Order: sequence, then structure tokens, then C-alpha cells
Amino acid sequence: MGKIAVGIAVVCGVAVAAAAAVVVHRRMKKSGKWVKVMEIVRDFEEKCATPVSRLKQVSDAMIVEMHAGLASEGGSKLKMLISYVDNLPTGREKGLFYALDLGGTNFRVLRLQLGGRGRGILNQQFVEVSIPPNLMSGTSNALFDFIVAELAKFVSQESSDYEPNPGRPRELGFTFSFPVMQTSIASGTLLKWTKGFSINDAVGRDVVAELTEAMERHGLDMRVSALVNDTVGTLAGARFVNNDAVAAVILGTGSNAAYVERANAIPKWHGPLPRSGEMVINMEWGNFKSAHLPLSEYDLEMDAESLNPGEQIYEKVLSGMYLGEIVRRVLCWMAQEAAFFGDTVPPKLKVPFTLGTPAISAMHQDTSPDLKVVADRFKELFEISSTSLQMRKVIVQICNIVATRGARLAAAGILSILRKMGRDTIKDGEKQRTVVGMDGGLYEHYTKYRKCLEKCLNELLGEEVSETIALQLSTDGSGIGAAILAASHSRYHGRDD
Ligand code: BGC
Repeated sequence: MGKIAVGIAVVCGVAVAAAAAVVVHRRMKKSGKWVKVMEIVRDFEEKCATPVSRLKQVSDAMIVEMHAGLASEGGSKLKMLISYVDNLPTGREKGLFYALDLGGTNFRVLRLQLGGRGRGILNQQFVEVSIPPNLMSGTSNALFDFIVAELAKFVSQESSDYEPNPGRPRELGFTFSFPVMQTSIASGTLLKWTKGFSINDAVGRDVVAELTEAMERHGLDMRVSALVNDTVGTLAGARFVNNDAVAAVILGTGSNAAYVERANAIPKWHGPLPRSGEMVINMEWGNFKSAHLPLSEYDLEMDAESLNPGEQIYEKVLSGMYLGEIVRRVLCWMAQEAAFFGDTVPPKLKVPFTLGTPAISAMHQDTSPDLKVVADRFKELFEISSTSLQMRKVIVQICNIVATRGARLAAAGILSILRKMGRDTIKDGEKQRTVVGMDGGLYEHYTKYRKCLEKCLNELLGEEVSETIALQLSTDGSGIGAAILAASHSRYHGRDD
């Protein structure tokens, strides 16, 4: 009896919502506002267009900036930072190493047992901890104390099998995924924060010293053997398993890329020429900016209101932190100018960053005939229950425009690296294989985005060259790679020679 009553109530609720949706939709049509909605969508789509010709212009501009960034410090918006990694892993790394992977709202602590000579990773364990939001804009000490307390807890809970030899500290690879001017493989000063972090007193300081001091405060006997950006960690992790890996791209909360450059093609490098003749460059491509980037007024407004206006423009059009926010801004404008959701703008829709990329990914990939996922998300997130199927289709269309532009621009970035490395053509019929390590939740979980990127890269490279290029997902490669680099830069053994 109770169940039937609930059932009827639910059915009635659905019927009422559907009827309300029909009414909103009819009213919109009648008042000509639907025409306005379509106009807004068309205009947005035009502004976000990424035909191949434009992507090539973006890529040309990026290559110019790559050269400028390599020529002199501060010569370009692309920082082209020297990583001090001049030798990538060989697969012979051996021993017990740790990693701390910090770069978003969560950080990871990782322990790896490396087997040496082709035996790979024998075992690994990790914990993931989320950072309380107040610590993302507090003080450097507060952040590092919090992190080190978790690191110490991780170590204190391990079995005695993992005790280091007497007199030797545990060794750690520190993945710090923000722009850092490195002064050696295990030191570097923070240039600026990105991705919603803003801890002012840390800028200009050596992040390894900050971490080490916090470890001392907690009595944790650990030594940082390598400081790496997540792109460099991912490249190292990819090379550990595949000799053809020469570049890595992160598409997650933020975005960036690293690749292997010829040391003599880096005029700003005044140190001794590495024996390998190579140096890994952390491009910091998120900060790329060009008049060729297709930007709409929604992007410009989001940038102006961000924590770092005028910076990380490329990152802001293609990475996970921002895609949902752009979609929200377009919908908000449609609500305001075309009464898309009724006479008033739903209050929750006005709140910045309430539409995350996981939500737009789920809506964009909704295959149900009535777009139920879209309806459910709008109800959950914004308390909007009166969406017609027609409206839900428009919402999916906006998600598609934003994700397509992001994915295609990311493909143009990868094209630039391949062109700079001379891997965009086939020389003397020789099919040299190129592997690009890929990491980040956006690439890993947003299938339509990933497929669009891959398709676009093939389009840009042509079929024959595409066959020689592989984008290889390397989940958590950034932390794993850092631990492996800690091994290859260990003061002790760390190698199986
Ligand atoms: C940071 C990079 C990082 C990228 C991906 C960007 O915001 O500036 O250092 O590699 O995010 O995590």
C-alpha cells in the first residue's frame, strides 16, 4: 500500500515536471526566445571553431614560442623549463623508493619496489589524500605540515620489510606540478601557482627546502632525490616501460607537456653539455597564448574573474578545471538572455565552478533516448527539473562544442612537439616509432574528448605518420616516474649495473 502510494507520487512528480518542461518550451517558442537560444548556440559554436587551418596556425605559433622560450629565460609565455633530467630511466633501476605527487586537490604518497634489469615494478602501494580547501590558499608551512603528517603516517604503517638499511634515509621523488625554476635535479623555486592554489609565501621559495624542513619538523628521515613536474614524471614512467617514449602530456585538472630536447638546441642552457646530449624540457604549455586561439566572451570573462587573469590561457580552454565552468557560463547567459530555464535564472546556476568536468563528461556521453543523465544532473546540481528533451539536446550540444575545441587544441599542441622533434614526417622510409605518455583524469575518463583528440591528431598528421605515433595512457605515471627518477638519481645504489 505504502509502496503503491509512493509509486503514484513519483509518477505524478515526473508527469508534473514533464508538463512544466513542455510549458516552458512552448512559452519560449511562442515568445521567439527559442530563436535567441539558437542564435547564442550558433554564435558560440562559430567562436569555438577549430578547422585544421586554424589548428595549424596555433601549432605554428606554439613552435615559435618554443624556440623563444628555449633561447632565453623569460623569452616567451612558454617557460620551456629545464628539468635537469638528462637521462631517462633504462629499466635497470632497482630498490625501494617513494614518491609524493602533489598537483591538485588530492595528493598521493607512493612506494615502489623496483626489480632492476627489466624486472620492472615488483610491488607498489599508495594512499591518496584530499587537501582541505583552506590549505590551498593558506601558508606554505601549513600545507607542507599537512602533507608530511600523511607521509609520516604512511611510513609508520609499513611492515619492517621496508625498513631502509641503517644510516640510510628513505629516498623520495617529489612530483610538484606547478611551474618551478629548477636549480638542480633536487631543488627549484616556485614561479607561481596555478589550478586554484594561491599560497603567496611559497612563491619564490625552494619547494624541496620547504618540504625538507617540514620533514625535519615531523622527525621524518627522508631525502628528496628528485624534484619533477608531473609531465616529466609521466615521461620517465612511460620510458621505463617503453624505449620509444619521448614526450608526455597531462590532461587533467591542469594541462602541460614535456619532451626530450637536444641539449645543443637550448641556447639558454649554459651548464655543461650532458653526456646523453639531451635534456627533458617542461614546456609549461598551459601558459601558451596566441591570437589564433579561438576564444569566446565566456572564456574571456572566466579568465578575468579567475585567480590568475591573463595567465594559463591555453590551459583554461582545454583542461579539466575549466571545461565545465565554460559550459555553465554559456547556459547562464542563455538563462538570462533567452529565459532558457524559465522567467528567472536558477540561483544555483549562477554559482561559479558548480558544473564540474565529470558532470559534462557524463552528460555529453549520455546515450539514453530521453537524455536522462542530463535531466538528473540538472536536478541534482541546480535543482532544475523542468527541462524538455529539446533543452537537454542543447545542453549536450554546448558540452560538445567546449570538449571538441579543447581536445582539438590539445591535438595541435601535441603536433607542435612532434614537429619540433622532427617526428611529424617519415624520413627515408624509416618508420621510427614515437610514444607520447598521457596522464590525467580528463584524458583517462572523458572518452569522447580522448577520441576527438586522437582523431584530430590523425587528421593533422595524415595516415602514414599517424601509424608511427602512439599516445599511451600511463595512469599515475607522474608519481611512478618520480619514484623511478629518485632511483636513477639516488646517492646510493638505485641501479642494477
Ligand atoms: C601546471 C603544470 C602542470 C600542469 C598539469 C599546470 O597548471 O602549471 O606545472 O604540469 O598543470 O598538472
